[in-house]
Amino acid sequence: MEPLVQRIDILRRTFDEACRGIADIKVLQDLRNKFLSRKRGYLAQLLEELKSLPVSERPEAGGRINVLKDYIQSRLDEAERTLAATTTASPRIDLSLPGRTRLWGAPHPLMLVTQEIEAIFLSMGFAIEEGPEIETDYYNFEALNFPPHHPARDDWDTLYTTDNLLLRTHTSPVQIRVMERRKPPIRIICPGRVFRHETPDATHLPMFYQVEGLVVDEGITFANLKGTLEYFLKTFFGEKVKIRFRPSFFPFTEPSAEVDIECLVCGGGDAQCRVCGGTGWKEILGAGMVDPQVFKNVNIDPERYAGWAFGLGVERVAMISHQLPEIKSFYENDLRFIRQFMIK
Ligand code: PHE
Repeated sequence: MEPLVQRIDILRRTFDEACRGIADIKVLQDLRNKFLSRKRGYLAQLLEELKSLPVSERPEAGGRINVLKDYIQSRLDEAERTLAATTTASPRIDLSLPGRTRLWGAPHPLMLVTQEIEAIFLSMGFAIEEGPEIETDYYNFEALNFPPHHPARDDWDTLYTTDNLLLRTHTSPVQIRVMERRKPPIRIICPGRVFRHETPDATHLPMFYQVEGLVVDEGITFANLKGTLEYFLKTFFGEKVKIRFRPSFFPFTEPSAEVDIECLVCGGGDAQCRVCGGTGWKEILGAGMVDPQVFKNVNIDPERYAGWAFGLGVERVAMISHQLPEIKSFYENDLRFIRQFMIK
């Protein structure tokens, strides 16, 4: 049998070797038991053997055993601390688990259509403006040349919050707000939400989106209105689309027109079509030359300046362009529906 001193050295090397394999707390506990257990641990055995040494050699050998014991103790403690830190910081990855699926959103089709409309008008030099959704009676009606109790107010089934405040029934009040702030030349569009006390059907909802447009400058004529709107509609729907202008009435424009587009949902061939009602045409915007009274209300000289305006229904444009028979589908938040419009 080798001398005790040599065996102490061997044990140290054996321990160092075993230390490299500490992968988890269980292995560490085993090592602690094997080396340090009071009854059967390797060190306990060495101490036991001290007795067989001559008395003169015992202190030195005993000292060495104690040094080794302290060494083993401190290395095991250190290993335990490292293990604790790494296991809480990075839990072990189980590669057999199924991956986490992400629920991708998608831009809403009405937002995409609005952006497309904006892009066409921006390219013609228009700027984008916004106004409040809760309006005063003055901006929504009076400044737009609807006197109190005027029967034309009945065309806009208004939701009042107080006697004087209402949810705007159209984006036209933004025309007034902009003309109060700025002097001509003005070339703007105003996208936004509007509200009407309306019974929902295939093409109507109590809340929907409009894009308003306004041009004011010297020498503006109805030809500018017609040319610009035709350019816009052909860019949006394609060169071949059929458009018609019909005479109409709005208190804030004179003369006024409504613009219809051929019904691309049924192609004019379905007498029961829910979108065009079998007429083959769908009204998508109202327009006209700014009434001189409106200019007077905002201190713009109607002798010097002329202008035109339009208000377009975004849902209708989207329905015709995507051939959708139901306006409701835009508001049901069905991701299967919404995701379809990402690529046009
Ligand atoms: N504001 C009108 C509507 O909501 C549309 C319109 C706007 C008509 C501008 C003429 C000029 O029906």
